[in-house]
Amino acid sequence: MKRFYMLSSCFVMLIWVLNTASVPAEENRLVVNTDLGSQTISRHIYGHFAEHLGRCIYGGFWVGEDSSIPNTRGIRNDVVRALKALDIPNLRWPGGCFADDYHWMDGIGPKEERPSMINTHWGGVTEDNSFGTHEFLDLCEQLGCEPYITANIGSGTVREMAQWVEYLTSDAISPMTDLRKQNGREKPWRIKFWGLGNESWGCGGSMEAEYYDDLMRRYSTYCRNFGENRLYKIACGANSFDYAWTDVLMRDPGNLRRMNGLALHYYTVCHDWRAKGSATNFDENEWFLTLSKTLRMDELVRKHSTIMDKYDPEKRIGLIVDEWGNWHDVEPGTNPGFLYQQNTLRDAMVASVNLNIFNNHCDRVKMANIAQTINVLQSVILTRDEKMVLTPTYYVFKMFKVHQDALLLPVDLKCGRYSFEEESIPSISASASKADDNKIHISISNLDPNNTISLQCELRGISVVSGIEGRIITAESINAHNDFDAEEQVSTADFDAFKVKGNTLILELPAKSIVMIKVR
Ligand code: AHR
Repeated sequence: MKRFYMLSSCFVMLIWVLNTASVPAEENRLVVNTDLGSQTISRHIYGHFAEHLGRCIYGGFWVGEDSSIPNTRGIRNDVVRALKALDIPNLRWPGGCFADDYHWMDGIGPKEERPSMINTHWGGVTEDNSFGTHEFLDLCEQLGCEPYITANIGSGTVREMAQWVEYLTSDAISPMTDLRKQNGREKPWRIKFWGLGNESWGCGGSMEAEYYDDLMRRYSTYCRNFGENRLYKIACGANSFDYAWTDVLMRDPGNLRRMNGLALHYYTVCHDWRAKGSATNFDENEWFLTLSKTLRMDELVRKHSTIMDKYDPEKRIGLIVDEWGNWHDVEPGTNPGFLYQQNTLRDAMVASVNLNIFNNHCDRVKMANIAQTINVLQSVILTRDEKMVLTPTYYVFKMFKVHQDALLLPVDLKCGRYSFEEESIPSISASASKADDNKIHISISNLDPNNTISLQCELRGISVVSGIEGRIITAESINAHNDFDAEEQVSTADFDAFKVKGNTLILELPAKSIVMIKVR
């Protein structure tokens, strides 16, 4: 019996040693080509999405002027402050599926006269339209971000959409602009990003690609550019791996004029759509599954881009990943139609992997929008009454904002694999950029939850590196998360586990960590 205990404790020790062992640096090499690079990482890759869904708008952004929660014209001050700290570049609204049910005229004018509707997609709740066009554009002004409005082409008319564009952007004298002035806005807004329907292959009208293409041609024709305003029109794109959809939209030569961007939606679902898996209660199998499915974003971007390259080699049309993120089961006891989920270190890792992919493909990916900003799916903020929580994903956006509008530095990455049972995935995800002030930022994630990784990072084109600073996001457990009334478990901290040898950094990346290196 004694021998058995001794043997088993040796076995436990061995496992411990294996788990904490460092993967040697020679196996892991990242070359950052500091003297190359021709593409800018659009800041719009760091975009957000706010739908009339659950508590995203109501309770999340909007509490109303009479609320005891501090607000400016009904919009929460704490949320605006937190999002401004991310330099949020754009906000997509009003959906999502809700967009193709939304009739914008119901959301303007005196609030007590606005008709209500049933939000059939999301919980069947009554939408009183108290948050409408003016409130949304006030929110964007408070955030200092660009609005991205998705128009209803599923159940709305061409006239209705054309009138919305006129109401928003025209300076001419017309019944629409008079109405706008009557509602308190004298000058037109500048609106750039304009979506032509949402998921028209599904909740937005169940259309075939060819039918949508015809409809998009028609609606796009009536999106006028008034005055100086220039719309950047974004057509509904494929559901994940539906490459035929992209082909139909791209092969129509006139579409080079009719659309500036083509969307793509891809969510990471750990198991399957019926039982997706818990946001917080998961094991290493689910960590691994989630990350391996997230990495498929790279394949999606590459394959959709290849089709786009065939018809548009000059890359005039942007690939717009305007819905991405983790989709878990809703939190127990919450309305299943509200899609409220918690957010852990796993979500932070997923965000970092996706953002690295978008950065590295910024020649084609011109915008991306995480779904969704507050209280819905992979949120950066959670609210409960007057309380607010910043999620692990929030801290990734905060850390990565340095890549916005910076020059992409091409990287060559050779790394070991993180294996789980019979499967394996690359253990590192990375991207790098150079800002206007010549500062270089390198974002590196260690996907392996068990092993520290030694990484040699060569900054090719520089003889000696100096002035290095690092930040890190990690936690004790893969399920670590931030919650109301509890001490924050996941945020950013200083990182100094690196040595410098000439132009090479030797980094010790802790297990399950996201690191940002700044080189001055
Ligand atoms: O983000 C939630 C929903 O997911 C959106 O409304 C829809 O576009 C997608 O299916």
